[in-house]
Amino acid sequence: MSERRLIIAIDGPAGAGKSTVARHLAAHFGLLNLETGAMYRAFALKTLRAKIDPGDAGGLEKLARETAIILDPTPSGNRVLLDGADVTDLIRDPEVTQAASRVSVHPVIRAWMVDLQREMGRTGGVVMEGRDIGTVVFPDADIKFFLDASPEARSQRRYEQASGPVAVENTPESQDVSQEAVTRDLRERDDRDRNRAQSPLRPAPDAVIVDSTFLTLDQVLERIEAIVRERLAEQNLGDEGLASERPAATERTDATERPQATARLVQG
Ligand code: DC
Repeated sequence: MSERRLIIAIDGPAGAGKSTVARHLAAHFGLLNLETGAMYRAFALKTLRAKIDPGDAGGLEKLARETAIILDPTPSGNRVLLDGADVTDLIRDPEVTQAASRVSVHPVIRAWMVDLQREMGRTGGVVMEGRDIGTVVFPDADIKFFLDASPEARSQRRYEQASGPVAVENTPESQDVSQEAVTRDLRERDDRDRNRAQSPLRPAPDAVIVDSTFLTLDQVLERIEAIVRERLAEQNLGDEGLASERPAATERTDATERPQATARLVQG
């Protein structure tokens, strides 16, 4: 019998459907879903509030030393606490989205985040989603997926999200949610995420690449779940690989039982 619990890595560009897939997959297999992008977003929100230029590496590092980020996986998604305050909704703002991509190019910020993410996933039983999970955070993850889709499909999905009834309700009138703006933002972010010097977005050599351009969510999930089941059988992980001792993602439990990232950059 294996002691090991499963780590599933899901990487890919913005708008490929990673978060939705990760959430469903975690619920299906009783794993915890950890959305690492939310951590970069929370820190980006703090830099905007502190009026620190996302290009100012020294300023960002100093700010990071005074920052605590907690990622709390719940059945409906990750709740994010920034210095104790719930910022889950605020971090979806387009300005924060762009700033997250900008702060994430800095090696010192990435090193901080990667340490925290490794700590959160240390005991396994997780689906971890981001840009560098299979390449850097958990290069030994049991199963790696790289979820991709054409830029057109991704920007269409993002536009539909951004212009849906809930999004519009929460969007200031001054904010531009035209399809062109969404496409432009996505392209900018793609360029930055793929071309940064430190751990650029790319599939791990052993990742299963799933292109969702012409697939529905159900089709993507069917494919991914089948691969997970196959791998579990191949690696003889069976139920042992799953989070049998962990609270299932579908259960609400006391926050202390869940792995959390208390993200503080420790001096020295
Ligand atoms: O997944 P997301 O859109 O919430 O991520 C926001 C930004 O954070 C993304 O543009 C790049 C950065 N990011 C990263 O560099 N590495 C990760 N593992 C997750 C996100």
